[in-house]
Amino acid sequence: MSSCSEVLDIDAPQSAEEREASIQFTRREFLAASGVVSAGVAAGFGPSADAQRATEAQQTVPLSISINKQQHQVSVDTRTSLLDLLREQLDLTGSKKGCDHGQCGACTVLLDGRRVNACLTLAVAAQGYEVTTIEGLGTPDNLHPVQASFLEHDGYQCGYCTPGQIASAAALLEEVKRGELSQVSWESGKTQRPALSDEEIRERMSGNICRCGAYPNIVAAVRAASMGGAA
Ligand code: FES
Ligand code: FES
Repeated sequence: MSSCSEVLDIDAPQSAEEREASIQFTRREFLAASGVVSAGVAAGFGPSADAQRATEAQQTVPLSISINKQQHQVSVDTRTSLLDLLREQLDLTGSKKGCDHGQCGACTVLLDGRRVNACLTLAVAAQGYEVTTIEGLGTPDNLHPVQASFLEHDGYQCGYCTPGQIASAAALLEEVKRGELSQVSWESGKTQRPALSDEEIRERMSGNICRCGAYPNIVAAVRAASMGGAA
């Protein structure tokens, strides 16, 4: 009976030269095969240019969308996120792209006053809603109370997360006015219009990450804004 090593050695080159020749041959074969594949792609085998254009045309739709109370008529690929529409097509770059995965909140915008991650929202799904971005919350001459409060309380360092933090906080204050509850409200048993404690603020702002760690000042800014700007 053959041993394992004998079985494995069947057909294997014996000398170093033979082994090298075998390796070279294998490399040549590989390169030749790659060349055939590349040439095939270059020559247009696979989806034709016309078919590709037709597919792209099918994926592009007209969209009428109201952003910061201004109606925009655009044409978008159905796969475009609201964040990319804002930043890349409409030049509204206030909303930031942090993770692009719904994990940091830098892209937070409001749809009919409710917070959403624009990176996880398809532009086509935002049609019919009023979209509010940081650019629509206030102006340099007429700041939104939350913007003023962030300035007053130094609620930022690098500022990258700040548009998302402010949009989120602006919506948070409205949620509290409507009596909407958070996990903290349920855990504390204060389910009748709970006061906006720091714990409530931290929980309700937990979808907005600040890599600079400006959290104490962010909480102070939201708390002050909830009290009408008082410290
Ligand atoms: S960029 Fe949208 S959640 Fe981070
Ligand atoms: S201020 Fe820099 S990430 Fe928040």
